[in-house]
Amino acid sequence: MLTLGIETSCDETAAAVLEDGVNLRSNVIASQHDIHSKYGGIVPELAGRSHIDKIHFIIREALQQAEVSLDEIDLIAVTQGPGLVGSLLVGLNTAKGLAYATQKPMIGVNHLEGHLLAIFLQEPVEFPFVGLIVSGGHTDLYRVNGFGDYQLLGRSRDDAAGESFDKVAKMLGWGYPGGPIVEARAREGDANAYAFPRAWLEKGSLDFSFSGLKTAVRTAIAKRGGSNGKGLSDADIAAGFQDAVVEVLITKALTACEQQGLKRLVLTGGVAANGYLRQRLREAAQPRNITCHVPKPILCTDNAAMIACAGYFRFQHAPPEAFELLRLDAHANFTV
Ligand code: KG4
Ligand code: ZN
Repeated sequence: MLTLGIETSCDETAAAVLEDGVNLRSNVIASQHDIHSKYGGIVPELAGRSHIDKIHFIIREALQQAEVSLDEIDLIAVTQGPGLVGSLLVGLNTAKGLAYATQKPMIGVNHLEGHLLAIFLQEPVEFPFVGLIVSGGHTDLYRVNGFGDYQLLGRSRDDAAGESFDKVAKMLGWGYPGGPIVEARAREGDANAYAFPRAWLEKGSLDFSFSGLKTAVRTAIAKRGGSNGKGLSDADIAAGFQDAVVEVLITKALTACEQQGLKRLVLTGGVAANGYLRQRLREAAQPRNITCHVPKPILCTDNAAMIACAGYFRFQHAPPEAFELLRLDAHANFTV
């Protein structure tokens, strides 16, 4: 069974072809980083316009790389939300148009479910497991009991982890997206040069908070100009900030495993592409006998392969009578 995945929720225009839910035939991603970089963040109107310009070309490219025609596709899976409304509408309406013209079934996919299931494109993971999604818009911890069965354990009360990377990079004048730049600069810095705070919140809480850390970075940048913070470099700030985020993410994820009595952890979302986080997580999980599953970086950041994967599993687990309903869904209005 061939699934065409379409993703336009944020600043990546992406399409992928997936065979039988796990065999990735193509995964085409056009990023808009060059458009948004000078603004230090995403400009929604520009994102939507860029999706319109690229979407058909990207879908055609994904079909070509997979060596299939649109007629051979069995299911169209498209990100339904959450995301930027103007961007989502481009993917949704393109998918609806294709579904209508070809009379193929179409299914709307939750972007976070896509991130959570991206790991299945790489390796099987036994249910139940703890899943931590760390992206530009979310920092969410779930207990994952099965496909479609997710229990929220904790989430950020303010900024998402990725958002804090982006804001810190903006403060330091490094452009967008901040994560990869902060990671690279942090390699030359001393993580202990400045004492950045960790927001643990109430005892046992699995919620996160990163806004205080962001303020601490602002203070560190300001102080550096004065006498007491002398010698603190941009790289030291990047390293100290990254270390604080990583320590909180890992501690809360492992606490969730402990609280839930689970030994399997999936880390996913754009921030999970961070090499320092990946390495520190493995080091911390090993002595606790917790097995970490982390998708390769290209499957952590936004892509349509994960949307095809989540769409496929949703479709497989839908009761047979829902098949016709899904066909109808292709022409219904989605709430975004
Ligand atoms: O999942 P994603 O591609 O899009 C959303 O759903 O938001 O995540 C994007 C976020 C951005 O905030 C970006 O700065 C962050 O992921 N990110 C990283 C790294 N690569 C991307 N954060 C830290 N280290 C990275 N290497
Ligand atoms: Zn995402």
